Amino acid sequence: MKINKSCMPTHIAIIMDGNGRWATRRGLPRKLGHKAGVDAVKRTINACLKHNIKYCTFFAFSTENWKRSKEEVDAIFDLVRDHIKENIEKMIEKGIKINSIGVLERFPKDLVDTLNDAKEKTKDFDKLTVTFALNYGGRDDLVRAFNKLIKQGIQEITTQDISNNLDSANLPDPDFVIRTSGEQRISNFMLYQMAYSELYFPKTYWPDFNEKHLLKAVAAYQKRDRRYGGIK
Ligand code: FPP
Repeated sequence: MKINKSCMPTHIAIIMDGNGRWATRRGLPRKLGHKAGVDAVKRTINACLKHNIKYCTFFAFSTENWKRSKEEVDAIFDLVRDHIKENIEKMIEKGIKINSIGVLERFPKDLVDTLNDAKEKTKDFDKLTVTFALNYGGRDDLVRAFNKLIKQGIQEITTQDISNNLDSANLPDPDFVIRTSGEQRISNFMLYQMAYSELYFPKTYWPDFNEKHLLKAVAAYQKRDRRYGGIK
């Protein structure tokens, strides 16, 4: 796949869709689809490191995902916790900074502790920032940002004030948003931050996603003409 190393997207955000269908097709329980999805997360992180992509954000659990069965929800929490626990040393070696967006309060303590510990241990790294969106919703992020601004006593808000008070205040806006499985929706992901993101919807189910798919996506991104409302 021909890609131009000098214009990689800085920040790729991924809606990892199709885990359930991947599992159902194989006659497996849905949670095994999420388990296979973790391998795709690992492949993607390694591909980002290899190809010098500086920020990668994974939509792991949305504010709407609480509607799923307790068994499935718990399976996702366990996978995120175990992934971090099992890979923290490797992530430190590789210079990965762990970050999260979303409200962690409702999560099991062991997951929150594992995540906070990983954030603390990796806070000075900058080779690649990996952000897990957990109990994250774009509308919820905006509402919380506005409420923070109200509490600060602000009278008039600028776009910069909003950006600075979103969970992603320390991240650049995503250049490129990938949603796997062929669904073409944003599903309340980083609504404000995605104002000028390029969108890409491969048919691949998330557990099958690999470096080759990522490079194909990046090649498509590099063909886009990003004008931000202007004329070239
Ligand atoms: C969407 O597929 C996927 C999710 C709601 C969960 C994604 C979570 C993981 C891959 C585990 C996260 C782990 C780490 C380390 C970030 P779906 O279940 O909606 O699939 P379907 O549309 O085919 O049913």
